[in-house]
Amino acid sequence: MKLLRAIAVAPALGALLFVLTHAPETVVHAIAVPAAGVAAFRAAQADSAATQPASKSSDAPPTWSRDIAPILYGHCTACHHPDGAGPFSLLTYDDARRWGPQVLTVTQSRFMPPWLPEPGYGDFADVRRLSDHDRDLIQLWVGARMPEGDPPAAPAPPHYDNGWVMGKPDLILKFARAWTLPAGGTDVYRNFILPYPLAQTHYIRAMEIRPGAPQIVHHANITIDRSAAMRRQNAATWQNGIPGMDEYVDAGDTFDPDSHFLFWKPDTPALVEPEGMPWRLDPGNDLILNMHLKPSGKPETIDAEVGLYFTSAPPTKQPMLVALERDDQLDIPAGDANFVIEDSLTLPVDVEVLGVYPHAHYLGHDLKGWAILPSGEKKWLVWIRDWDIDRQSIYRYRGPILLPKGTVLHMRYSYDNSAANVHNPHSPPVRVRAGNRSEDEMGHLWLQLLPVNAPAGGPDPRLLLEEAWMRNRVRKTPDDSISLYNLAAALAGEGKYVEAVADFEHILRLSPNDERTLTALGVALDGEGEWRRAEQSFRAAIAADASACYARFDLASLELRHQEWKNAEADFRAQQVACPEDAETHADLGTTLADEGRNDESAQEFRRALALDGNNVAALIGLGTIETEEGENSEAVMQLAAAVRLAPSSSDAHTALARAYAQAGNVTDALAELRTASHLKPEDPELHSALAQVLASTGNVQEAIAEQRAALKLLEDDPDGWNNLGVLEERTGQKASARADFEHALQLKPDHTQAKANLARLGSIN
Ligand code: HEC
Repeated sequence: MKLLRAIAVAPALGALLFVLTHAPETVVHAIAVPAAGVAAFRAAQADSAATQPASKSSDAPPTWSRDIAPILYGHCTACHHPDGAGPFSLLTYDDARRWGPQVLTVTQSRFMPPWLPEPGYGDFADVRRLSDHDRDLIQLWVGARMPEGDPPAAPAPPHYDNGWVMGKPDLILKFARAWTLPAGGTDVYRNFILPYPLAQTHYIRAMEIRPGAPQIVHHANITIDRSAAMRRQNAATWQNGIPGMDEYVDAGDTFDPDSHFLFWKPDTPALVEPEGMPWRLDPGNDLILNMHLKPSGKPETIDAEVGLYFTSAPPTKQPMLVALERDDQLDIPAGDANFVIEDSLTLPVDVEVLGVYPHAHYLGHDLKGWAILPSGEKKWLVWIRDWDIDRQSIYRYRGPILLPKGTVLHMRYSYDNSAANVHNPHSPPVRVRAGNRSEDEMGHLWLQLLPVNAPAGGPDPRLLLEEAWMRNRVRKTPDDSISLYNLAAALAGEGKYVEAVADFEHILRLSPNDERTLTALGVALDGEGEWRRAEQSFRAAIAADASACYARFDLASLELRHQEWKNAEADFRAQQVACPEDAETHADLGTTLADEGRNDESAQEFRRALALDGNNVAALIGLGTIETEEGENSEAVMQLAAAVRLAPSSSDAHTALARAYAQAGNVTDALAELRTASHLKPEDPELHSALAQVLASTGNVQEAIAEQRAALKLLEDDPDGWNNLGVLEERTGQKASARADFEHALQLKPDHTQAKANLARLGSIN
């Protein structure tokens, strides 16, 4: 019952994903229609006047109704509708005609629809790219002076309104306060915090965002802040949003890696997760909406709403986000038009790749990701030839890409820091290094990986991925304490304590008073069996930070497990003073007091624990056990039956319930509970002895003897056990064996009264 809190695995790193720090101070955003697009337009006009492509009969030019409306409805109007994200509507013939020449230009240049990946290098779902055929049709149509054709032949225009696309959400989160984006200036990146207000955990199968002002919200990244750290760090200001993106989200103290790309773009308002892969929100979590906003010329009010759709089914598949990255090498000389970084990572487990998110800032140019399988086969993950941060997106694959263990993932990014790069925020160019401001650079290739074919009983394959990823980071930047911490935490999670201890100690050489590392080191030392050193480490954590609540709890629990009742009691009480009240501490203090025989005080602590958390199993067992001892049988059975329901695989719960039944004279149920307990924990001799006793009381002496023998096999030096075996064997008439058993008991404990009496009786019977 008295487990240490889970190893403090805190991949603060997961947050790096959403460190999209662009708050350009100097960049005036320009719509970058490549000059080539204009040229293509002119060429196209010239072309279409002269020679029409052969695919279309020259006497029947395409019409809006038959040919163009379907293209625009399928690829453009999701953004280009009234109040949509695009700057104008393309819903009607008049719209299309009015914008026709520009439509031709942007489709020829592939500026529209926005889509960066190169076809043939990753098979993506929801591809926005126009086919060559559709581009030809637009070209012919504009060349023929944009005929309308037969209006009734046009498909019905799609319907857009500002309602929820997926119907009414189960929960709507709103901004604490609306925020006003200034009329002009540069792009703004701002974090809006939306606390999850419910007291129960929910699984989210879909999320929908209504940005409030679609034309200025370019995209949004959503991060889950499990520990509400950002809100606490900005206690006074968070309601207005927090500028900048350089925010690390602390993942807390359990291994709970980020698993989903929560990325919103204007033409896909609803993010629907695949079957079996909902994500989780717990009480106390925050959603952080990191928005990329573009001033429109007038002040705009942002008051977004996030709609959440629940499912009662917890996830059956656990993906994980992993990144290749080479920020440590980003130091790009001014004027360098082809600065290259590369990274690779070998997969420790079989995975399916579900999605990819390439990320660089304004200088990124050519972004490639691929995999080399153990067979030598090469599989492309993504290729973006002409990166544009304003069009960044996540890309999901149409079907998962299976990559076996041993596959090497690769990324190769090039950067253009010359004056010829139209996106370059500096004129003239300056030296640029890695960082989270938009004028700094980044080089990340994030992948959503779903481990598959993991052997049963092995460690969580995500821990192996985390280990491989962090080893890769430590190899590149040996003194990076976040990587070292996450590596050590993954190792500890896999039970590789010795190596974990070495890595935590490495961090402590760099920053000796880091409370969290001292705490985690304590847990790893305890895992290694070095409990005295663990104790020291916890004490050092508390000395470094008086409110070190995990260290305090872990220290007291450690003492409890090692039966240092007095210290445990003192340290639990100190924790209660220094830290927020929690059920676990009350329950463990209750256990400590019970172990000292202080039943009244103990029961009080268990009751307090249950008032805070009615499902605290340790408190239910503790209280039920005290009630059994005090003869309050029906209360005891009630508490303990609840414990068994909550923790059906806890042999302690079944054992305690068996005792309560036995005490109440209900031998049948007592026997059933004991059998279950012993089945769950066959290595416990006490359970076999207890079974022997209850079986004997029901007259089942043969089975009782078998159980008593099983107990003695596990614990040979138990004089009571030998005495009991003797009594049972005597009952079946095996007098010689019984005599030997009593003698054995007396050998172990010469003054064993019952054994003496039993032996004497046997003698007198003879
Ligand atoms: C994902 C949303 C989205 C989709 C889909 C989309 N557009 Fe756009 N479009 C925009 C936005 C936003 C702008 C404003 C420029 C910018 O921010 O990139 C724009 C601008 C334009 C412009 C003006 C370009 C200029 O030079 O100012 C044209 C023309 C255009 N889009 C046509 C199209 C056509 C044709 C399609 C379909 C084939 C399309 N768009 C699909 C969002 C979209």
